[in-house]
Amino acid sequence: MEQINTLLETAFGRYQLQRFPVNKAEKLRAWDAADEYVLQHLDENKLLTENISLLIVNDGFGGLSIPLSRYKPVVMIDSYLASHGIVLNSQNNTIDEDAITISNSLDRPEDIFTTSVDIVLIKLPKSLAMLEDQLHRIRPVLSSTTIIIAAGMTKNIHMSTMKLFEKIIGDTKTSLARKKSRLIFSQVDERLTVSENPFPTSYTLPYKLDGIDLEVNNHAAVFSQDKLDVGARFFVENLPADEKYTTIVDLGCGNGVLGVMAAIKNPTANLVFTDESYMAVESAISNFVSVFEETREAEFLQTDCLQGVEDNSVSLILCNPPFHQNNAITDNVAWQMFSESKEALTQKGELWVIANRHLAYHAKLKTIFGNCEVVASNNKFTLLKVIKS
Ligand SMILES: C[S@@+](CC[C@H](N)C(=O)[O-])C[C@H]1O[C@@H](n2cnc3c(N)ncnc32)[C@H](O)[C@@H]1O
Repeated sequence: MEQINTLLETAFGRYQLQRFPVNKAEKLRAWDAADEYVLQHLDENKLLTENISLLIVNDGFGGLSIPLSRYKPVVMIDSYLASHGIVLNSQNNTIDEDAITISNSLDRPEDIFTTSVDIVLIKLPKSLAMLEDQLHRIRPVLSSTTIIIAAGMTKNIHMSTMKLFEKIIGDTKTSLARKKSRLIFSQVDERLTVSENPFPTSYTLPYKLDGIDLEVNNHAAVFSQDKLDVGARFFVENLPADEKYTTIVDLGCGNGVLGVMAAIKNPTANLVFTDESYMAVESAISNFVSVFEETREAEFLQTDCLQGVEDNSVSLILCNPPFHQNNAITDNVAWQMFSESKEALTQKGELWVIANRHLAYHAKLKTIFGNCEVVASNNKFTLLKVIKS
Protein backbone atom coordinates (compact mmCIF):
# COMPACT_ATOMS: atom_id res chain seq x y z
CA MET A 1 0.00 0.00 0.00
CA GLU A 2 1.31 3.47 -0.90
CA GLN A 3 2.36 5.43 2.21
CA ILE A 4 0.79 8.85 2.58
CA ASN A 5 3.26 11.76 2.82
CA THR A 6 3.45 13.09 6.37
CA LEU A 7 6.42 15.46 5.93
CA LEU A 8 5.36 19.09 5.47
CA GLU A 9 8.34 21.09 4.19
CA THR A 10 8.00 24.86 4.54
CA ALA A 11 10.13 27.99 4.75
CA PHE A 12 9.36 27.89 8.48
CA GLY A 13 10.72 24.38 9.02
CA ARG A 14 9.91 20.74 8.35
CA TYR A 15 7.15 19.02 10.29
CA GLN A 16 5.66 15.54 10.57
CA LEU A 17 1.88 15.94 10.39
CA GLN A 18 -0.85 13.32 10.65
CA ARG A 19 -4.60 13.47 10.46
CA PHE A 20 -6.55 12.52 13.55
CA PRO A 21 -7.63 9.89 14.37
CA VAL A 22 -4.55 8.17 13.00
CA ASN A 23 -5.56 5.57 10.43
CA LYS A 24 -2.97 3.23 8.88
CA ALA A 25 -4.94 3.10 5.62
CA GLU A 26 -5.18 6.94 5.47
CA LYS A 27 -5.30 8.24 1.91
CA LEU A 28 -5.32 11.95 2.75
CA ARG A 29 -2.49 14.22 3.89
CA ALA A 30 -2.95 16.31 7.03
CA TRP A 31 -2.55 19.56 5.04
CA ASP A 32 -3.42 20.71 1.53
CA ALA A 33 -2.01 22.86 -1.28
CA ALA A 34 -3.86 25.90 0.11
CA ASP A 35 -1.88 25.63 3.38
CA GLU A 36 1.36 25.46 1.38
CA TYR A 37 0.30 28.49 -0.69
CA VAL A 38 -0.41 30.61 2.42
CA LEU A 39 2.95 29.69 3.96
CA GLN A 40 4.82 30.51 0.74
CA HIS A 41 2.98 33.83 0.43
CA LEU A 42 3.77 34.82 4.03
CA ASP A 43 7.42 33.96 3.49
CA GLU A 44 7.85 35.53 0.02
CA ASN A 45 6.25 38.79 1.15
CA LYS A 46 8.02 38.81 4.55
CA LEU A 47 4.70 39.45 6.28
CA LEU A 48 5.64 37.95 9.62
CA THR A 49 7.60 39.93 12.19
CA GLU A 50 8.34 39.28 15.86
CA ASN A 51 5.46 40.08 18.23
CA ILE A 52 2.71 40.15 15.61
CA SER A 53 -0.71 38.91 16.68
CA LEU A 54 -1.93 36.04 14.53
CA LEU A 55 -5.41 34.50 14.30
CA ILE A 56 -5.91 31.31 12.28
CA VAL A 57 -9.47 30.25 11.52
CA ASN A 58 -10.26 26.57 10.70
CA ASP A 59 -6.73 25.23 10.75
CA GLY A 60 -6.96 21.52 9.95
CA PHE A 61 -4.56 19.31 11.96
CA GLY A 62 -1.96 22.10 12.34
CA GLY A 63 -1.01 22.65 8.67
CA LEU A 64 -0.73 26.39 9.40
CA SER A 65 -0.46 26.75 13.17
CA ILE A 66 2.41 24.30 13.58
CA PRO A 67 4.82 25.90 11.04
CA LEU A 68 3.78 29.31 12.47
CA SER A 69 3.87 28.26 16.13
CA ARG A 70 6.76 30.64 16.94
CA TYR A 71 4.29 33.54 16.34
CA LYS A 72 1.99 32.16 19.08
CA PRO A 73 -1.17 31.90 16.96
CA VAL A 74 -4.71 31.69 18.29
CA VAL A 75 -6.63 29.04 16.34
CA MET A 76 -10.43 29.24 16.11
CA ILE A 77 -11.84 25.87 15.32
CA ASP A 78 -15.16 23.98 15.34
CA SER A 79 -13.82 20.46 14.96
CA TYR A 80 -12.81 18.21 17.86
CA LEU A 81 -10.73 16.08 15.48
CA ALA A 82 -8.83 19.03 14.05
CA SER A 83 -8.11 20.50 17.48
CA HIS A 84 -6.90 17.14 18.78
CA GLY A 85 -4.84 16.75 15.63
CA ILE A 86 -3.16 20.10 16.38
CA VAL A 87 -2.40 19.07 19.96
CA LEU A 88 -0.98 15.66 18.94
CA ASN A 89 0.98 17.03 16.00
CA SER A 90 2.42 19.75 18.26
CA GLN A 91 3.60 17.11 20.72
CA ASN A 92 5.10 14.99 17.93
CA ASN A 93 7.04 18.01 16.67
CA THR A 94 8.11 19.05 20.20
CA ILE A 95 6.33 22.38 20.00
CA ASP A 96 5.77 24.16 23.33
CA GLU A 97 2.43 23.38 24.88
CA ASP A 98 1.50 27.04 25.19
CA ALA A 99 2.67 28.11 21.70
CA ILE A 100 -0.73 27.53 20.05
CA THR A 101 -3.94 28.68 21.75
CA ILE A 102 -7.01 26.78 20.64
CA SER A 103 -10.39 28.48 20.98
CA ASN A 104 -13.72 27.14 19.80
CA SER A 105 -15.96 28.34 17.02
CA LEU A 106 -18.45 30.10 19.31
CA ASP A 107 -15.85 32.09 21.23
CA ARG A 108 -15.78 35.85 20.70
CA PRO A 109 -12.36 36.88 19.37
CA GLU A 110 -12.73 40.25 21.14
CA ASP A 111 -12.61 38.33 24.44
CA ILE A 112 -9.20 36.92 23.40
CA PHE A 113 -7.50 39.88 21.67
CA THR A 114 -7.33 43.22 23.46
CA THR A 115 -6.33 45.15 20.33
CA SER A 116 -6.94 44.53 16.63
CA VAL A 117 -5.22 41.48 15.14
CA ASP A 118 -2.23 41.97 12.80
CA ILE A 119 -2.73 38.93 10.58
CA VAL A 120 -5.79 36.71 10.08
CA LEU A 121 -5.49 33.49 8.07
CA ILE A 122 -8.71 31.72 7.16
CA LYS A 123 -8.97 28.24 5.69
CA LEU A 124 -12.28 28.34 3.85
CA PRO A 125 -14.84 26.20 5.66
CA LYS A 126 -17.18 23.70 3.94
CA SER A 127 -20.21 25.96 3.93
CA LEU A 128 -20.86 29.59 3.07
CA ALA A 129 -23.02 29.83 6.18
CA MET A 130 -20.01 28.97 8.36
CA LEU A 131 -17.84 31.48 6.49
CA GLU A 132 -20.48 34.17 6.98
CA ASP A 133 -20.68 33.43 10.71
CA GLN A 134 -16.89 33.46 11.05
CA LEU A 135 -16.43 36.73 9.16
CA HIS A 136 -19.01 38.35 11.46
CA ARG A 137 -17.27 36.89 14.52
CA ILE A 138 -13.79 38.15 13.57
CA ARG A 139 -14.91 41.58 12.32
CA PRO A 140 -14.67 43.25 15.78
CA VAL A 141 -10.92 42.44 16.00
CA LEU A 142 -10.04 43.70 12.51
CA SER A 143 -8.79 47.15 11.57
CA SER A 144 -7.67 48.78 8.34
CA THR A 145 -4.11 47.57 9.02
CA THR A 146 -5.05 43.91 9.51
CA ILE A 147 -3.75 41.59 6.78
CA ILE A 148 -6.53 39.12 5.95
CA ILE A 149 -5.69 36.10 3.82
CA ALA A 150 -8.15 33.32 3.14
CA ALA A 151 -7.18 30.14 1.32
CA GLY A 152 -8.95 27.24 -0.26
CA MET A 153 -9.02 24.91 -3.21
CA THR A 154 -10.03 26.74 -6.41
CA LYS A 155 -13.11 24.53 -6.87
CA ASN A 156 -14.47 25.79 -3.54
CA ILE A 157 -14.02 29.52 -4.28
CA HIS A 158 -17.00 31.10 -6.03
CA MET A 159 -18.42 34.56 -6.71
CA SER A 160 -20.62 34.03 -3.64
CA THR A 161 -17.48 33.48 -1.52
CA MET A 162 -15.97 36.76 -2.73
CA LYS A 163 -19.26 38.61 -2.23
CA LEU A 164 -19.41 37.53 1.42
CA PHE A 165 -15.97 39.00 2.05
CA GLU A 166 -16.99 42.25 0.31
CA LYS A 167 -20.25 42.42 2.30
CA ILE A 168 -18.68 41.84 5.72
CA ILE A 169 -15.03 42.94 5.41
CA GLY A 170 -14.38 45.19 2.37
CA ASP A 171 -12.51 45.14 -0.97
CA THR A 172 -11.52 41.60 -1.91
CA LYS A 173 -9.43 40.05 -4.65
CA THR A 174 -7.97 36.62 -5.41
CA SER A 175 -4.50 35.40 -6.34
CA LEU A 176 -3.56 33.27 -9.31
CA ALA A 177 -4.10 29.56 -8.77
CA ARG A 178 -1.21 27.36 -7.58
CA LYS A 179 -1.64 23.58 -7.43
CA LYS A 180 -5.42 24.07 -7.74
CA SER A 181 -5.54 26.37 -4.72
CA ARG A 182 -6.07 30.11 -4.43
CA LEU A 183 -5.67 32.89 -1.89
CA ILE A 184 -8.22 35.59 -1.17
CA PHE A 185 -7.03 39.00 0.04
CA SER A 186 -9.53 41.19 1.82
CA GLN A 187 -9.07 44.72 3.08
CA VAL A 188 -11.14 46.07 5.96
CA ASP A 189 -13.40 48.95 4.98
CA GLU A 190 -14.06 50.72 8.27
CA ARG A 191 -16.93 52.74 6.74
CA LEU A 192 -18.83 49.65 5.64
CA THR A 193 -22.22 49.17 7.30
CA VAL A 194 -22.25 45.53 8.30
CA SER A 195 -25.53 43.79 9.15
CA GLU A 196 -25.96 41.60 12.23
CA ASN A 197 -24.67 38.04 12.24
CA PRO A 198 -27.78 36.02 11.22
CA PHE A 199 -26.61 32.88 13.08
CA PRO A 200 -27.85 30.86 14.89
CA THR A 201 -30.97 30.48 12.75
CA SER A 202 -34.04 28.31 13.20
CA TYR A 203 -36.84 26.64 11.25
CA THR A 204 -39.96 24.71 12.16
CA LEU A 205 -40.01 21.02 11.26
CA PRO A 206 -42.39 20.26 8.37
CA TYR A 207 -44.70 18.14 10.58
CA LYS A 208 -45.73 17.63 14.18
CA LEU A 209 -44.54 14.63 16.17
CA ASP A 210 -46.94 13.54 18.91
CA GLY A 211 -48.63 16.91 18.50
CA ILE A 212 -45.40 18.81 19.08
CA ASP A 213 -44.38 21.56 16.66
CA LEU A 214 -40.60 21.54 16.85
CA GLU A 215 -38.56 24.66 16.17
CA VAL A 216 -34.98 23.61 15.36
CA ASN A 217 -32.08 25.93 16.24
CA ASN A 218 -28.91 25.70 14.20
CA HIS A 219 -25.50 27.24 14.54
CA ALA A 220 -23.85 28.00 11.21
CA ALA A 221 -21.68 24.86 10.83
CA VAL A 222 -24.47 22.39 11.42
CA PHE A 223 -25.64 19.83 8.88
CA SER A 224 -29.27 20.55 7.83
CA GLN A 225 -28.61 24.16 8.82
CA ASP A 226 -31.28 25.77 6.64
CA LYS A 227 -33.81 22.93 6.33
CA LEU A 228 -34.29 19.37 7.51
CA ASP A 229 -32.19 16.88 5.52
CA VAL A 230 -34.41 14.51 3.51
CA GLY A 231 -32.59 11.46 4.86
CA ALA A 232 -33.02 12.66 8.45
CA ARG A 233 -36.70 13.28 7.75
CA PHE A 234 -37.18 9.72 6.48
CA PHE A 235 -35.36 8.48 9.58
CA VAL A 236 -37.55 10.55 11.93
CA GLU A 237 -40.69 9.18 10.28
CA ASN A 238 -39.51 5.63 11.02
CA LEU A 239 -38.00 6.02 14.49
CA PRO A 240 -38.66 3.08 16.81
CA ALA A 241 -40.45 3.31 20.17
CA ASP A 242 -40.07 0.57 22.78
CA GLU A 243 -39.38 0.39 26.51
CA LYS A 244 -36.45 -1.92 25.82
CA TYR A 245 -34.49 1.11 24.57
CA THR A 246 -33.22 2.34 27.93
CA THR A 247 -30.20 4.24 26.56
CA ILE A 248 -30.30 5.86 23.13
CA VAL A 249 -27.31 7.51 21.44
CA ASP A 250 -27.69 10.04 18.63
CA LEU A 251 -24.30 9.41 16.99
CA GLY A 252 -23.08 12.36 14.89
CA CYS A 253 -26.10 14.29 16.18
CA GLY A 254 -25.82 17.54 14.17
CA ASN A 255 -28.71 19.68 15.48
CA GLY A 256 -29.94 16.66 17.45
CA VAL A 257 -33.21 16.22 15.58
CA LEU A 258 -33.00 12.38 15.60
CA GLY A 259 -32.23 12.18 19.31
CA VAL A 260 -34.83 14.77 20.31
CA MET A 261 -37.51 12.98 18.31
CA ALA A 262 -36.41 9.60 19.71
CA ALA A 263 -36.62 11.09 23.21
CA ILE A 264 -40.19 12.20 22.56
CA LYS A 265 -41.13 8.71 21.30
CA ASN A 266 -39.28 6.93 24.12
CA PRO A 267 -40.20 8.93 27.22
CA THR A 268 -38.23 6.83 29.72
CA ALA A 269 -34.99 6.46 27.75
CA ASN A 270 -31.70 8.15 28.68
CA LEU A 271 -30.34 10.13 25.76
CA VAL A 272 -26.73 10.73 24.75
CA PHE A 273 -25.79 13.07 21.88
CA THR A 274 -22.31 12.97 20.32
CA ASP A 275 -20.73 15.04 17.56
CA GLU A 276 -17.23 16.20 16.72
CA SER A 277 -18.51 19.68 15.86
CA TYR A 278 -18.77 22.17 18.70
CA MET A 279 -21.58 24.05 16.96
CA ALA A 280 -23.49 20.79 16.42
CA VAL A 281 -23.34 19.86 20.10
CA GLU A 282 -24.37 23.37 21.15
CA SER A 283 -27.31 23.25 18.69
CA ALA A 284 -28.39 19.83 20.00
CA ILE A 285 -28.30 21.12 23.59
CA SER A 286 -30.44 24.09 22.64
CA ASN A 287 -32.98 21.90 20.78
CA PHE A 288 -33.23 19.33 23.57
CA VAL A 289 -33.68 22.01 26.22
CA SER A 290 -36.30 23.86 24.18
CA VAL A 291 -38.46 20.69 24.08
CA PHE A 292 -37.89 19.27 27.56
CA GLU A 293 -36.81 22.35 29.54
CA GLU A 294 -35.95 21.18 33.08
CA THR A 295 -38.00 17.98 32.90
CA ARG A 296 -35.42 15.72 31.37
CA GLU A 297 -31.64 15.38 31.30
CA ALA A 298 -29.36 14.15 28.54
CA GLU A 299 -25.62 13.81 28.02
CA PHE A 300 -23.87 15.82 25.28
CA LEU A 301 -20.35 14.92 24.15
CA GLN A 302 -18.08 16.75 21.72
CA THR A 303 -15.98 13.75 20.83
CA ASP A 304 -14.75 11.41 18.13
CA CYS A 305 -17.64 9.03 17.31
CA LEU A 306 -18.36 7.14 20.57
CA GLN A 307 -15.27 8.00 22.63
CA GLY A 308 -16.48 8.61 26.16
CA VAL A 309 -19.45 6.21 25.83
CA GLU A 310 -18.99 3.04 27.91
CA ASP A 311 -18.74 -0.33 26.15
CA ASN A 312 -21.83 -2.61 26.40
CA SER A 313 -23.99 0.24 27.72
CA VAL A 314 -26.30 1.37 24.89
CA SER A 315 -29.52 -0.26 23.68
CA LEU A 316 -30.12 1.85 20.56
CA ILE A 317 -27.80 3.93 18.36
CA LEU A 318 -29.20 6.24 15.67
CA CYS A 319 -26.81 7.25 12.91
CA ASN A 320 -26.97 9.38 9.78
CA PRO A 321 -23.26 9.00 8.91
CA PRO A 322 -21.10 11.77 7.46
CA PHE A 323 -19.35 11.31 4.15
CA HIS A 324 -16.97 14.26 4.61
CA GLN A 325 -14.11 15.03 6.93
CA ASN A 326 -13.37 18.76 6.70
CA ASN A 327 -13.49 19.33 2.93
CA ALA A 328 -12.46 15.76 2.02
CA ILE A 329 -14.89 13.03 0.98
CA THR A 330 -14.27 9.80 2.89
CA ASP A 331 -16.17 6.82 4.33
CA ASN A 332 -13.58 6.25 7.08
CA VAL A 333 -15.80 7.95 9.64
CA ALA A 334 -18.84 5.81 8.77
CA TRP A 335 -16.71 2.69 9.21
CA GLN A 336 -15.41 3.94 12.53
CA MET A 337 -18.93 4.79 13.72
CA PHE A 338 -20.20 1.31 12.85
CA SER A 339 -17.27 -0.53 14.47
CA GLU A 340 -17.41 1.57 17.65
CA SER A 341 -21.19 1.04 17.81
CA LYS A 342 -20.59 -2.66 18.10
CA GLU A 343 -18.49 -2.03 21.21
CA ALA A 344 -20.92 0.42 22.78
CA LEU A 345 -24.08 -1.69 22.28
CA THR A 346 -25.36 -4.19 24.83
CA GLN A 347 -26.08 -7.75 23.65
CA LYS A 348 -29.15 -7.47 21.38
CA GLY A 349 -28.61 -3.72 21.21
CA GLU A 350 -29.48 -2.15 17.84
CA LEU A 351 -27.77 0.26 15.46
CA TRP A 352 -30.10 2.02 13.00
CA VAL A 353 -28.44 3.71 10.01
CA ILE A 354 -29.99 5.88 7.31
CA ALA A 355 -28.21 5.41 4.01
CA ASN A 356 -28.43 7.00 0.61
CA ARG A 357 -29.23 4.13 -1.77
CA HIS A 358 -25.97 4.54 -3.72
CA LEU A 359 -23.80 4.06 -0.59
CA ALA A 360 -22.77 0.47 0.15
CA TYR A 361 -23.50 0.57 3.90
CA HIS A 362 -25.53 -2.63 3.83
CA ALA A 363 -22.44 -4.73 2.98
CA LYS A 364 -20.26 -2.83 5.49
CA LEU A 365 -22.72 -3.36 8.31
CA LYS A 366 -23.12 -7.03 7.47
CA THR A 367 -19.35 -7.48 7.58
CA ILE A 368 -19.17 -5.94 11.05
CA PHE A 369 -22.37 -7.30 12.67
CA GLY A 370 -23.08 -10.45 10.62
CA ASN A 371 -26.66 -9.28 10.00
CA CYS A 372 -28.47 -6.34 8.41
CA GLU A 373 -32.17 -5.77 7.88
CA VAL A 374 -33.93 -3.12 5.80
CA VAL A 375 -36.48 -1.44 8.09
CA ALA A 376 -37.88 0.97 5.49
CA SER A 377 -36.91 2.32 2.11
CA ASN A 378 -38.02 4.82 -0.50
CA ASN A 379 -36.57 5.77 -3.88
CA LYS A 380 -33.59 7.63 -2.29
CA PHE A 381 -32.92 6.10 1.13
CA THR A 382 -32.84 2.85 3.02
CA LEU A 383 -33.09 2.64 6.78
CA LEU A 384 -30.95 -0.25 7.98
CA LYS A 385 -30.94 -2.05 11.32
CA VAL A 386 -28.25 -4.34 12.71
CA ILE A 387 -28.32 -6.20 16.01
CA LYS A 388 -25.32 -7.01 18.18
CA SER A 389 -25.40 -10.74 18.82
C1 LIG B 1 -24.88 13.59 7.96
S1 LIG B 1 -24.66 14.52 9.42
C2 LIG B 1 -26.05 13.98 10.39
C3 LIG B 1 -26.50 14.97 11.43
C4 LIG B 1 -27.81 14.62 12.14
N1 LIG B 1 -27.70 13.36 12.83
C5 LIG B 1 -28.97 14.58 11.13
O1 LIG B 1 -29.40 13.47 10.79
O2 LIG B 1 -29.40 15.67 10.70
C6 LIG B 1 -23.28 13.71 10.16
C7 LIG B 1 -22.80 14.32 11.48
O3 LIG B 1 -21.66 13.57 11.92
C8 LIG B 1 -20.76 14.46 12.54
N2 LIG B 1 -19.41 13.85 12.55
C9 LIG B 1 -18.49 13.79 11.56
N3 LIG B 1 -17.40 13.13 11.97
C10 LIG B 1 -17.61 12.77 13.25
C11 LIG B 1 -16.85 12.07 14.22
N4 LIG B 1 -15.64 11.59 13.95
N5 LIG B 1 -17.38 11.90 15.46
C12 LIG B 1 -18.61 12.38 15.76
N6 LIG B 1 -19.38 13.04 14.87
C13 LIG B 1 -18.90 13.23 13.64
C14 LIG B 1 -20.85 15.72 11.69
O4 LIG B 1 -20.38 16.85 12.40
C15 LIG B 1 -22.36 15.76 11.39
O5 LIG B 1 -23.05 16.52 12.35
